[in-house]
Amino acid sequence: MSYIEMRRVSKRFGTVLANDNAALSVDRGEILALLGENGSGKSTLVNMLAGIYIPDSGSIYIDGKSRRFRSPQDAIAAGVGMVHQHFKLIPVMNAWENISLGERLEIDSGKERLLFNPFIEKKRVNKKITGIEERFGLVTVHHKKIYDMSVSEKQTVEILKMLYRGAAALILDEPTAVLTPQETKQLFAMLRNMKQEGCAIIIITHKLNEVMDISDRVTVMRKGNTIATVNTAETNPRELTEMMVGASISLEIKREEPALRDKPVMEVRGLTLTGIDGTLLLDDMNFDLYGGEMLGVAGIAGSGQKELCEIIAGLRKAGRGSVMCNGCNLLGLSPRQIKDRGVSMSFVPEDRLGMGLVGGMSITDNVLLRSYEKKPGLFIDRAEGGALAEKIVAHYGISTPSVRHMVRKLSGGNIQKVLLGREIDLAPKVLITAYPVRGLDIGASYSIYEILNEQKKNGVAVLYIGEDLDVLREICDRLMVIHNGRVMGIVDPRRTSKEDIGLLMLGHKTEAA
Ligand SMILES: Nc1ncnc2c1ncn2[C@@H]1O[C@H](COP(=O)(O)OP(=O)(O)O)[C@@H](O)[C@H]1O
Ligand SMILES: [Mg+2]
Repeated sequence: MSYIEMRRVSKRFGTVLANDNAALSVDRGEILALLGENGSGKSTLVNMLAGIYIPDSGSIYIDGKSRRFRSPQDAIAAGVGMVHQHFKLIPVMNAWENISLGERLEIDSGKERLLFNPFIEKKRVNKKITGIEERFGLVTVHHKKIYDMSVSEKQTVEILKMLYRGAAALILDEPTAVLTPQETKQLFAMLRNMKQEGCAIIIITHKLNEVMDISDRVTVMRKGNTIATVNTAETNPRELTEMMVGASISLEIKREEPALRDKPVMEVRGLTLTGIDGTLLLDDMNFDLYGGEMLGVAGIAGSGQKELCEIIAGLRKAGRGSVMCNGCNLLGLSPRQIKDRGVSMSFVPEDRLGMGLVGGMSITDNVLLRSYEKKPGLFIDRAEGGALAEKIVAHYGISTPSVRHMVRKLSGGNIQKVLLGREIDLAPKVLITAYPVRGLDIGASYSIYEILNEQKKNGVAVLYIGEDLDVLREICDRLMVIHNGRVMGIVDPRRTSKEDIGLLMLGHKTEAA
């Protein structure tokens, strides 16, 4: 029997069967990857192992003993610790205080309180942390406050916290989603050390190259089932994808040759935006957008992506510099004024339900919402809106019972198609899209890439703000890397390594730029 085993575990949330007789096992000194599409049940499964959810049925064995965890405390007492997608650290406290917090709470509530001496305590805790750091090859700055830390530093503190509390099994739920390539490398080095030291590790990721890189075995989930477990050395990305999706699928993203360059459709010069607290959100940005080309934007989350999109689309005022298009500066104009100057631009925001679409309205009404902007006043023609909605549904293969169906009730991929379809119908010269495949499964993501490529082929200038570097490098013609609101470089993704792009994302100048 393995160190950790989950057998025939099921969990239902209302009408959703999130886990259906799922199973996994992992041994000491082993790294298991848990792979599956969005919503396939990965988080639910490991949350039961970590004591956050209680299984409806099935069993969990740790070291051969059957366990029933009622809380995360139960799980950690049995040696199972979890690092969450969203960290649970206290920002105003520093690293060592956070790490020892759980332990201190126990002391506070117990008899030992009488013996508690803060000075001796501080020394003892820090010594223990240093011991763990040396053993597992982790580095933290004990006295640094959490609010001063980068995401990757916080993640290390979380890992240390679990090891400090005696975790011999560590679960990480999509730990690399928030990291740059360099930080991912560092994390993987730590995980390898932990494996050497005999830890059992379960890592959730949907990135196939990471699975191939870090894991010893892979358990694949589909629709709540753990459908297969294979040795990493005996599989490959294609096979894993087929297991994950349940069908063979091309993993190639097409990059059509861009159109021959004419004059730029849009020229951004000296674009600068200052936040309320005086920090520079956008710092002297300069770039050109050409028709028939896809310009990607890569950067750590919060580097100015949102501000850049909103300013260009006229949704945010203020800012210095210029956004020249059709011979006029769009900076400071409203979307309506931009359109009146003959500039057709479409913005597909990251927040599909909210800024883009109204979830409680039908597909038809959402389509009308935008053309109403185009022809305000008397000409809201519901029949025309219905016909257009039908056309969009048919053209993009949106699965819905009817165009009167509420948008909120569609799947993420279908919602994105409604939004893109509506925007593209306006025949934009510039299409700005931010995180268009966020939360979509593989099939839906690929159909979105196709739609964007089709627009590029039609001569549209596409500005693609993305988060998956592998995708950005495959689909874009040029890639603009930003850091703290600054353009660090505009590189040719065919000739620039992921590492070099990662360095630019971190704000380092490289040869490539
Ligand atoms: N707390 C919850 N309440 C209701 N439904 C949930 C909850 N957590 C997960 N689900 C549903 O269970 C399914 C599996 O979700 P999850 O385990 O988060 O998948 P994954 O981590 O693979 O993306 C999804 O359909 C999701 O919507
Ligand atoms: Mg999840």
